[in-house]
Amino acid sequence: EDGALWGGRFAGGPSPELAALSKSTQFDWQLAHYDLAGSRAHARALARAGYLTADELTGMLSALDELDARVHDGRFVAGEQDEDVHSALERGLVEISGVELGGKLRAGRSRNDQIATFVRMYIRDRSASVGLLVAGLIEALATQAETNFDVIMPGRTHLQHAQPVLLAHQLLAHAWPLVRDLDRIQDLRRRLDESPYGSGALAGSTLGLDATAVATELGFSASVANSIDGTASRDLVAEFAFVLAQIAIDVSRLSEEIIIWNTKEFGFVTLDDGYSTGSSIMPQKKNPDIAELARGKAGRLIGNVTGLLATLKALPLAYNRDLQEDKEPLFDSVEQLEVLLPAFNGMVATMRFDGERMRELAPQGFSLATDVAEWLVKRFVPFRDAHEISGGCVKLAESKGVDLDGLTDEDFASVSPLLTPEVREVLTVDGSVATRDGRGGTAPVRVREQLAQLRERLNEV
Ligand code: ARG
Repeated sequence: EDGALWGGRFAGGPSPELAALSKSTQFDWQLAHYDLAGSRAHARALARAGYLTADELTGMLSALDELDARVHDGRFVAGEQDEDVHSALERGLVEISGVELGGKLRAGRSRNDQIATFVRMYIRDRSASVGLLVAGLIEALATQAETNFDVIMPGRTHLQHAQPVLLAHQLLAHAWPLVRDLDRIQDLRRRLDESPYGSGALAGSTLGLDATAVATELGFSASVANSIDGTASRDLVAEFAFVLAQIAIDVSRLSEEIIIWNTKEFGFVTLDDGYSTGSSIMPQKKNPDIAELARGKAGRLIGNVTGLLATLKALPLAYNRDLQEDKEPLFDSVEQLEVLLPAFNGMVATMRFDGERMRELAPQGFSLATDVAEWLVKRFVPFRDAHEISGGCVKLAESKGVDLDGLTDEDFASVSPLLTPEVREVLTVDGSVATRDGRGGTAPVRVREQLAQLRERLNEV
């Protein structure tokens, strides 16, 4: 008895090379407490179906408790001979309960339905903890938006000055995608809510075990409808890996802005010392490494979801050992976000904006040209003409080396008699921002509404 779960038909144990390849305890050990929970529920199902006496069940449960305690404090660990967490825990159970009793637990289950169940339980738990971190980032963005509510900045398209916007509007534009990521997690949790336990290797069990009871005990609201699907599918793993990658991508877009805003040329933001790094050679340096690591990790998480999808592509039903390759990318994506987001949230919460600098740049680059055109539209000039006239103002201002508000009344009149001196009213960033008061716009009244709406949504998810 070398601990392997499948010695019977083999002449000898696996070659050392196979054992080395096959081994997964170095990463699947973290599923041990799900495995033990599954074993408890399964023992009860066996007892209810008459395969364990009441005494045997008591003995089995107390052996599982003892094993749990040993796993918890490190007295029981995976050994060289253990192929995976499931085999290791069966070895541990037998050590405690004796082979007579411990050998009965495996009836009616397979590592295939076990692992499919535990991966779902893992995603259920860790999607909740990642969700809390994402909510923390949304909260940090909302607080920065509130604190800097008066700041107006150059809004950009193509990275060129486009129209002035509230910094709050820009920050909240990074918050909403994260709210949708939380929605995605919630939605995924609905699909996760079915337990594959009891599917056996693929075809179900002959033993009349109550899969629904096991599902309930493990915190699922149902067991899967199809045992082949239950053991062979990993679309939920891929879906979660996608949501994690999308979170990283959303964070990377904010990172890129912070990195740009943090340059000497922009000078929009100062990072707190505790959330910046120095250079080993250049004493003056203060670098936005957290944002850069976030950008880099987004690539890594994309790799994880891509790898998972490649593993699943054209994989025949039902279980194939390929599926063991689902765990490392899944765990990695979770662990990367769990180490990134606390640092990232701290950086966002503590960064300081230079409101004056942003306001100074906001009207530059003729960013008020649309306001001139829309001022004309409000005077019933067709937009085609208004666009043309405003473009004429930009051309004139550019040739004079001034911005739009540097044009004189005569300059405006020379471009078009429709441009009376009142046009100046829209040539301030405050005026420009305040008049963009359509739903979803950057006008302060709208952004206040938006903040309230965001906070409300945050309470729901
Ligand atoms: N360790 C495997 C996995 O992670 C589960 C065991 C199934 N092994 C097997 N030979 N059927 O997918």
